[in-house]
Amino acid sequence: MCGIIGYVGPREAAEIVLGGLQRLEYRGYDSAGVAILCDGRIEVRRATGKLAQLVKRVHSDPPCAAHSSALNLGIGHTRWATHGGVTEYNAHPHLGAEGRVAVVHNGIVENYAELKQALQAEGIRFASETDTEVIAHLLELAISAGQSFEQAALHVLKQLRGSNAVVMICTAQPDTLIAGRLGNAGGIAIGLGEGEMFVASDVPGILEHTRRILFLDDGEVAVVQPGQVRVLDREGRRVEKPIHTIPWDPVSAERGEYRHFMQKEIFEQARAITDTLRGRVNFESGVVKLETLALPEVPPRKIHIVACGTSAHAGLVGKFMLERLARIPVEVDYASEFRYRDPLVGAEDVVLGITQSGETADTLAAMDEGKRRGARLWAIVNAIGSQAERLAQGYIAMRAGPEIGVASTKAFTASLVDLYLLACALAQAFPQPGAPDPFAAARALAQLPGWVSQLLAPNPLFEELAERFHTREHFLYLGRGVNYPIALEGALKLKEISYIHAEGYPAGEMKHGPIALIDEQMPVVCIAVRDSVYDKMLSQVEQVKARHGIVIAVATEGDAEIARKADYVLWVPEAPELLTPILTVIPLQRLAYHLAVRRGCDVDQPRNLAKSVTVE
Ligand code: G6P
Repeated sequence: MCGIIGYVGPREAAEIVLGGLQRLEYRGYDSAGVAILCDGRIEVRRATGKLAQLVKRVHSDPPCAAHSSALNLGIGHTRWATHGGVTEYNAHPHLGAEGRVAVVHNGIVENYAELKQALQAEGIRFASETDTEVIAHLLELAISAGQSFEQAALHVLKQLRGSNAVVMICTAQPDTLIAGRLGNAGGIAIGLGEGEMFVASDVPGILEHTRRILFLDDGEVAVVQPGQVRVLDREGRRVEKPIHTIPWDPVSAERGEYRHFMQKEIFEQARAITDTLRGRVNFESGVVKLETLALPEVPPRKIHIVACGTSAHAGLVGKFMLERLARIPVEVDYASEFRYRDPLVGAEDVVLGITQSGETADTLAAMDEGKRRGARLWAIVNAIGSQAERLAQGYIAMRAGPEIGVASTKAFTASLVDLYLLACALAQAFPQPGAPDPFAAARALAQLPGWVSQLLAPNPLFEELAERFHTREHFLYLGRGVNYPIALEGALKLKEISYIHAEGYPAGEMKHGPIALIDEQMPVVCIAVRDSVYDKMLSQVEQVKARHGIVIAVATEGDAEIARKADYVLWVPEAPELLTPILTVIPLQRLAYHLAVRRGCDVDQPRNLAKSVTVE
């Protein structure tokens, strides 16, 4: 949710911190702030609104008069409000009463009310309504009582309940950042530079400076100084941590010539899918190899997929792929539901988390729940080194590259490819009578990047549709079979970026309710490709037309029948049924994008949403 950046080194801290925040703004963006250490004082600048407001504030009133010091230290934060409204005084960083420490924080301090009461009873006055401020006061009091910065940080982190990621600075130690991670409230990545160090909640925030990254796990604290990082456990004992080299190119986190990140990411899908397939399929034999995921001796009894948002929709498609190709029963749960429903999971089962960020709190908690019940834990994940990847016993990387737009696009299609690969790998390892040939299924993937490229060609119909329908307040999306989850995903894309109310529905259920909504004002997007439920979809199209609804069909190239029945057709190339969702979703992403742009919406940063949801 919130974005965190820290810097210690010879360069101007404010500029590095602001640059990092700009790259993390997608995480949360109702307000932002920086704290910079200057001549033994901590200077804070904060502003509500977009980051540009903070940049303006820092430039018109620089925290340090001149960039003279050999060593500079600063932290910054973009906020997505949980406790306390969106105001300048609630924006981070927060200071201790004497201004000797500054703190940025992601997560929720669950016992903050009782900590606050105790501090107020000691005469501490609070400057904000946030839970974060208690951390600053506790830290400063411990230092004033004679503890070192490190001792005080460990002492304070022990007092906090809930999932929290915290970065702290202190005037007494101008060469040190201390970062702590408690639970799954968000990652802390430490970037190792030459004579300088970086801290970030998310790798893209510091990717332009270093690709050598160390990740904190639950309960770990990092003492970060130029030239060295010491990682400690809760008790202050040294922990050895691996250093990851992130293969992402820093340019991949730039918007380039595109107007929006979402647009760029839609158009990157052919490339992302090629990367996802690279080295995993032998296109001659059809053999699939997943290096980072060891298959068990016997097929899993059941696979429980847990995920949120768009990743949950990928899971629903994955159910079709895994059940049809590998003949293994699959259940799909929203992660936030799974953890509270006392699921029937055992040691013969697999719990599979799907998560682009690898940091979604509910997904991590659901995976933990599966592990606690003895299941084998797998993940499909995009962010390298993320908590989900580290938690899982085996994982498949999406290889989509950094996804910055809040509305997920390329990570969705990459996770569908991963699910298909997993289904092929399981089917090849554990052949089942009556199942389709899993080698032929894998060979079909060779054509996928080409089909996706065709879908990315210029098409004036999107603008025409946006022009005609941008003032509508409701859309209905219908799909059936493996394309039913794509109806859900198409509707989600539209509502999250354009604020048009959209409902995705299994087409066969339309007659049990949504049909009442259809009139001549209602655009109905029908995914009606030539698959095993094509005839059924066609009759649904008829039913919509009979009630004067407007049909926008997603159909297989060359289908003259649908062209006669629908008002508009978005064509997709003919492909094996289980691969069609990877194709049909792309015109729906493009449609949502064009409608949102036509409505003047902030496509990359839709209101109230955040890219990584690290709180419950
Ligand atoms: C948020 C994002 C969605 C994303 C969901 C799950 O809601 O806005 O785009 O699908 O979280 O995120 P994950 O990183 O776990 O896939």
